[in-house]
Amino acid sequence: MSKVAVIFWSGTGNTEAMAGAVADGAKEAGAEVSLLTCGEVTTVDGFDAVALGCPAMGSEELEEGEFQPMLESIEPALVGKKVVLFGSYDWGTGEWLENWEARCAEKGIKLAAESVKANNTPDEDALEACKKLGAAIA
Ligand SMILES: Cc1cc2nc3c(=O)[nH]c(=O)nc-3n(C[C@H](O)[C@H](O)[C@H](O)COP(=O)(O)O)c2cc1C
Repeated sequence: MSKVAVIFWSGTGNTEAMAGAVADGAKEAGAEVSLLTCGEVTTVDGFDAVALGCPAMGSEELEEGEFQPMLESIEPALVGKKVVLFGSYDWGTGEWLENWEARCAEKGIKLAAESVKANNTPDEDALEACKKLGAAIA
């Protein structure tokens, strides 16, 4: 059985709701899933696939207090694993996610499916896209 980690940071719950749907999608597709806040993560060793969720923060950036340091620490170990990205945003156009995708490419991290973004609270369509994202890495 494939082992999937869904790792997220969420300030007001929108990305957390997306993470729950990603986890549900992976579980329904038969994976063993760990749903983790970024503070709970020290290693991704032992996982076959990792879904990472963070909203647009700063100025089209990832959250820098907890998420970025965690991400930096696990990035070398993400190379060669199945990785996907998701998150919520508000007034922008999703530039933070494009920046994050470019960062992954620079570090040699290949994305296994198209990233999913939700404007504020994820609607039914966004939650369905999150479930498919989870299934894609299960
Ligand atoms: C400090 C801060 C910075 C933000 N910066 C951006 C931004 O650059 N672009 C954007 O589209 N939304 C931005 N947002 C909006 C959040 O991405 C949006 O509220 C999102 O739904 C929060 O997700 P969460 O509930 O998972 O924390 C920002 C919000 C905060 C609190």
